[in-house]
Amino acid sequence: MKFFLDTANIDEIRQGVAWGLVDGVTTNPSLVAKEGVGFHDRIKEICALVNGSVSAEVTATDYEGMIKEGHVLAKLHDNVTVKVPLIPDGIRACRTLSQEGIKVNVTLCFSPSQALLAAKSGATFISPFVGRLDDISQDGMQLVGEIVKIYKNYGFPTQVLAASLRHPQHVVQSALAGAHVGTMPFSVLKMLFNHPLTDIGLKKFLADWDKVKDQVLKK
Ligand code: E4P
Repeated sequence: MKFFLDTANIDEIRQGVAWGLVDGVTTNPSLVAKEGVGFHDRIKEICALVNGSVSAEVTATDYEGMIKEGHVLAKLHDNVTVKVPLIPDGIRACRTLSQEGIKVNVTLCFSPSQALLAAKSGATFISPFVGRLDDISQDGMQLVGEIVKIYKNYGFPTQVLAASLRHPQHVVQSALAGAHVGTMPFSVLKMLFNHPLTDIGLKKFLADWDKVKDQVLKK
């Protein structure tokens, strides 16, 4: 399973890359707005740091506008994946951009029927939003599993990018469901490390070592 960071924050990306755990990055207009920096400059900065797909989202909602923005974004760097929303013009733009050899991430997917449209239009990634479905008392993880199954049934090459992951269990369940990618905030990536027994065990190892280290190192 690939790990993408869902952020436009450079410090977070730098830390994740230093751990060797970042296979790509997803951004969205809300995440970029939070940083208060130039959109294109930030995408180029991220691409220079990350050896993998970097999703940059169009803000046009009409086909022509999406194609125009998609071309500009794709020219920023080879790592750019153009993100389009799952609306009719977005699906049409997905087909055109994909046929031109540009990688496309279809975002804001909330149903298996929508995921089928993206796969049939040549999307590189489909992004089912797990947390946002959970927020309205629906089963976001069930959606991930259903899309994985449908894509397998027909051999669609579109990769399932589980998005809107809010905690470590979302990541684990996405992996169990067979998602190709999980995109998560930096806070969730950090939480994946956590286990109290690791901390307790390390403390004990070091305390035991402390008691004898002078003798052992002299030998
Ligand atoms: C994915 O590409 C989206 O940017 C993201 O996962 C949305 O997550 P949220 O629902 O926590 O905002």
